[in-house]
Formats: sequence, structure tokens, C-alpha cells
Amino acid sequence: MNILLLGSGGREHALAWKMAQSDLLTGLYIAPGNAGTSQVGTNVDINPNDFNAVKNFVIEKNIEMMVVGPEEPLVRGIKDYFLNDPFVAHIPVIGPGKDGAMLEGSKEFAKEFMQRHNIPTARYFSVTADNIGEGYSFLETLNAPYVLKADGLAAGKGVLILNDINEAKSELKAMLDGKFGAAGNTVVIEEFLSGIELSVFVLTDGHASIILPEAKDYKRIGEHDTGLNTGGMGAVSPVPFADSGFMKKVKERIVIPTVEGLKEDKIPYKGFIFIGLMNVNGDPYVIEYNVRMGDPESEVVIPRIKADLVDLFKAVAAGNLKVKSLEVDHRTATTVMLVSGGYPGSYEKGKKITGFDKVEDCILFHAGTKQAGADIVTNGGRVIAVTAFGSDKNDALRISYRNAALIDFEKKYYRSDIGFDL
Ligand code: AMP
Ligand code: GLY
Repeated sequence: MNILLLGSGGREHALAWKMAQSDLLTGLYIAPGNAGTSQVGTNVDINPNDFNAVKNFVIEKNIEMMVVGPEEPLVRGIKDYFLNDPFVAHIPVIGPGKDGAMLEGSKEFAKEFMQRHNIPTARYFSVTADNIGEGYSFLETLNAPYVLKADGLAAGKGVLILNDINEAKSELKAMLDGKFGAAGNTVVIEEFLSGIELSVFVLTDGHASIILPEAKDYKRIGEHDTGLNTGGMGAVSPVPFADSGFMKKVKERIVIPTVEGLKEDKIPYKGFIFIGLMNVNGDPYVIEYNVRMGDPESEVVIPRIKADLVDLFKAVAAGNLKVKSLEVDHRTATTVMLVSGGYPGSYEKGKKITGFDKVEDCILFHAGTKQAGADIVTNGGRVIAVTAFGSDKNDALRISYRNAALIDFEKKYYRSDIGFDL
């Protein structure tokens, strides 16, 4: 089977690395990919949001399945674009259509979905410029801190958490006035949930679903979760507090009602659902849905999956996922993200990366890298995720960190406390 994977980050390298191990695979293409994906497949210089170029490539190379890594092409409707074109309508796309992708593309849609299907989540109120007064009144019913979320996609920057009510009110106004562009035309005000976060991943064909290994990621740039939010600085899987009792609640209260809710709402959904949740005193509450795998969570979740991922994707496409089960590696996987100095603010690219010949017992998943002649150079804020297995979290982290020190580039930075709270 010829497969095209869209995307270029660590998540896509992990997906490509795993699919490349499948006997079912003939050709693997990654658009646009990075220096890591080119080691397991063929990179093609196509922007995933250029649907026409993607379609032409699919026809030209006889692609038989397309896997969509990032959310943007899904939210923009790449699946619908394929379904509406007679030349490619028959090509299975792993990822939801525009309607299902609204779970990530609109916070208000996601909250209404959860309310309609009795899925536990924080109390909320949705505001536009027309009812800002009601928004102020709702804020007054809450205790600090206050959570404000731009409705639309805002590259992970659209959530503000504020301690002061007056600041919350003025930020609400600023968001509605365009602080985050059109993404903030609607703002969801939420009750603050206090607890520890967990990332849960589901693969579904729209009927049956498989819960993949869970993970915890570390979003802040600084040690002990301080400083600015990033795409993610590291991850651990499994997560000790996500024991069988907790995961049973997640399955019964969240995963099943989500998949059933999509069915009830007549939203066909074939792909990943990433549930970001908060463990509040032992009970799970949904913080957000994403319609893709997480990054850097993929860099620990995917290596723990023993099943053939292409075989699972084929079952998703055919609608017979219910006959599949998941075998999981019970060891702990950890990943430490090496980033460019300055990230998540401004940073330089094009720095030569060295040490590839020195690392041992780890898997390097490239995020922002590219080939430049004989060298591999940095090409983004997040550069390489260093994944390792161990008998427990500390054992795995020791190996991730030993190797993280061996890969080098100018102004390399990484957090040295991944997993500190587990
Ligand atoms: P989101 O983009 O919805 O994942 O929000 C970004 C981050 O803000 C989450 O990962 C949480 O750490 C935090 N957050 C979002 N909503 C809430 C909430 N209702 N209570 C507490 N923290 C939240
Ligand atoms: N690591 C969080 C995300 O992928 O959105």
C-alpha cells in the first residue's frame, strides 16, 4: 500500500517511523516532512494546506491512503475536499471531515457537544461582542483564576488564565476586539479546574474505538512548569495516576459518550481523537479535544504500540476496527525535546546538529530539522525529541537525558525535569 502522510513535526516522524515497520507498506511519502522522516520514507515538497497539490500528488503516485498529522488541513476540510472529488473520493483519509474537526476548530462547538452528550467538563459561558455584559456577569459568578479561550484555532496561544477579575474583564474585551484575530470573535469563559492533566488518545472508525496508551506532556518552557507555553517540552507514558480505575472512568464517562455523541450528531469520524483532560480529585474532566495525535505525546505513545499501525488504519478506513485489539509495550517511554535557544520566542534556524553517531539505546524523532547538503540543521523551535524506554520513569529518563546531552547544536536548550510531578 502506498501512503501519504501530511505534516513535518516530531509527531509525523513518529507516525512515519511506525508505519515504515509495516509489511503492508509499499511506499511512504511525507509532505513536507523533515530530515528524520526522509530516513524512513520519501519527503515531498508540498504544503498540506494546498489541497489541489496534495490531490495531484495522490493521483500521480497512486497513493492508496492518506494520513493527516496536523489539525489545520482537517479543520480547513481536506477530507471533504477529497470526498467531493471523483478522482480521489475513494482514497481513505485518516482524520475527520470538517464537521468532526470542529471539536478542535471551535471551543464553543466542543463545549456544546460535551453539554449535549453529558460529558464532564468545566462550566462555561460563550461570549461575542453582542453579549459582553453577560460575559462580565458570568465572570463575577466564578472564583479566580479565570479561564478565557478564543473559540478558533490560535496556534496554542488562544487560552488566557488570569488571577484578577478586572484583568479578566479587560482581556475578554481585548480578545473580542481582535487580540487573537478572528479566532477570538467568540470567547469561551470557563471555570478553572484544579488538578493534574493527562492526554488520552483514541483511534476510532466512527463506531468502535481503541484507547491508545495515555501520556503526560510538559508544555511550559521552564523547569517546574514555569514561563511561556510551548508546543511541548517532553512527555511520559504510561502515567502512574492513570490506573485502571481512573481509565475506566475515562472510558465510560468520556470516550464512549464522545464516539456515541458523534454518531448521534451524524458526524462520521475516522481518525484520532486526543482528549486533554484534568484529573480533579480522581474524576476526569475534558479540557479540550484535538482531532489529531499530540506532539510530543506521539513520541512516547506510538513507540509503545506493538500492533501494526497500517493494519489499524486499514481497519479504521474499512469500518471494522472492532475486530482489532491493541498490544502495548508495558515499559515506560519518555521523551525530552531539544529546542532552539529563544523558543517559544524568536530563535535562529540553520544550526548544524552533531552527535547522531554517539547516541545509544534511544530513538531520535526529528521535529524541526532539515537536510542541508551533508549536514542536518535546525529548522524550527522544537528540534529533536529524544525517546527512550525504561523499566520505570526514572530509568527511561536517565537514558533520554544521557542521549539528550550527546546531540548538540548552538543554543540547544531542554528541560531537565520532565516527569517531576509524577
Ligand atoms: P487548551 O488549549 O484548551 O488545552 O488550554 C491550554 C491549557 O490551559 C491547558 O493545557 C490547561 O493547562 C489550561 N486550561 C485550559 N482550560 C482550563 C480549565 N478550565 N481549568 C484549568 N486549566 C485550564
Ligand atoms: N502536546 C499537546 C498538543 O499536541 O496539543
